[in-house]
Amino acid sequence: MPSLRVPPAASLAGEIMAPADKSITHRALLLAAVSDRSVRVDATLDAEDTQSTVGAVQRCGVEVSGELGGSLEVAGVGLRGLRPPPAIDCGNAGTLMRLLPALLAGQSADHCVLDGDDSLRRRPMDRVARPLRAMGAGVFTAPGGTPPLVVDCRQRLVGCRHELPVASAQVKSCLLLAGLYAEGETWVVEPAPSRDHTERLLEAAGVPLLRDGDAVGVRGPAEGLGLPDMEVPRDFSSAAPLIVAGVLRGDPAVRLPGVNLNARRTGLLAVLERMGAAVTVEDRRHLGGGGEPVGTIVARRATTLHATEIVAHEVPSLIDELPLVALLGAFAAGRTVVRGASELRVKESDRIATVVAVLRALGATIEEREDGFEVEGHPSLRGGEADAAGDHRLAMLGAVAGLASETGVVVSGFEAVGVSYPGFGRDLAALASEGAA
Ligand code: S3P
Repeated sequence: MPSLRVPPAASLAGEIMAPADKSITHRALLLAAVSDRSVRVDATLDAEDTQSTVGAVQRCGVEVSGELGGSLEVAGVGLRGLRPPPAIDCGNAGTLMRLLPALLAGQSADHCVLDGDDSLRRRPMDRVARPLRAMGAGVFTAPGGTPPLVVDCRQRLVGCRHELPVASAQVKSCLLLAGLYAEGETWVVEPAPSRDHTERLLEAAGVPLLRDGDAVGVRGPAEGLGLPDMEVPRDFSSAAPLIVAGVLRGDPAVRLPGVNLNARRTGLLAVLERMGAAVTVEDRRHLGGGGEPVGTIVARRATTLHATEIVAHEVPSLIDELPLVALLGAFAAGRTVVRGASELRVKESDRIATVVAVLRALGATIEEREDGFEVEGHPSLRGGEADAAGDHRLAMLGAVAGLASETGVVVSGFEAVGVSYPGFGRDLAALASEGAA
């Protein structure tokens, strides 16, 4: 398996264009596919996960032209115009596997089997299958609640109210999309607010959202979708390892223009502020089509970092950044505690076990908890070998740790970054060479 050696860097500097948002690219492609019009999506993400989504919509008979990574023209076929094939490979993409069944359930086709790679095959899909069945859909998992998912199309869907046991934007999105095909109102209530990209895109596409306190809903069946042409912002979760690299070694600064600043995604910024890091935001504006806020994030080396505690309620706002919080904690004075994050156990890897294994192998003092971890900070981190465990976020964690370590880090399985950020190694190297200049 290809590995990457990341030597320590005395300083990092420069401007990096982080890749396009993965969550929004998936959603834009899926909603464009069932729009009543041809939709142009600019600045899409070209990575393995979004390649899976383009493949999936094409397999459903939707014409997609242009290049991923640039502009795509998606010839929408309308809400009921998909022609699902017998099987679709979702690769490593959990978002695709959890959102697509909602659209497939509303088609007049036979059935479609959704499967994925070994990592996706271990992830829970009953969290969408069960509530979809409660709406009348024929969606079934393998015995352990895992893929493959079998979607028996042609069932009549009826709206209902779903109380989610854990906050999940993927589950919420799936149920709202199913609500477009259902008779009556479909409501979703979450224990804490998760990212709302689907809601924003639905509203932009002309679907009125129902709101009642924390609950969000749609009234179906929807007459049609008119997603406007849109631009995808840069992904906060892909920018995050570079932000943390900047906080650990940025001198004079690491600059990241055009990054999505959706408040339900940027919990890391609040945590960094609590820890005493010097991160600022400039050039705030809004993008058209989905109206996502973006800005330039500027991260400079922090003189000292203080430990902090992450509580359950803020977990959804930085769910994909929690591995990086562990790394920050390894350098922060005191004990950094992450709690209420058992969801990490069912990500692309068991991210509680893998984060603890990686940071411990590099010399950090970190303990595993059932629902998170505790890290005791030290002024420095030794370095060593980190195994990405097939998980893109772990590969990036190991590489950033290498820059801030004493002896460097060899990240094995580094190619996992291809799922969300294929150019990550090149961008880190650019920051290191400009920092050394
Ligand atoms: C995502 C939501 C989150 C996140 C994942 C992408 C999305 O998952 O961890 O990387 O695009 O909606 P959950 O919905 O399972 O929390």
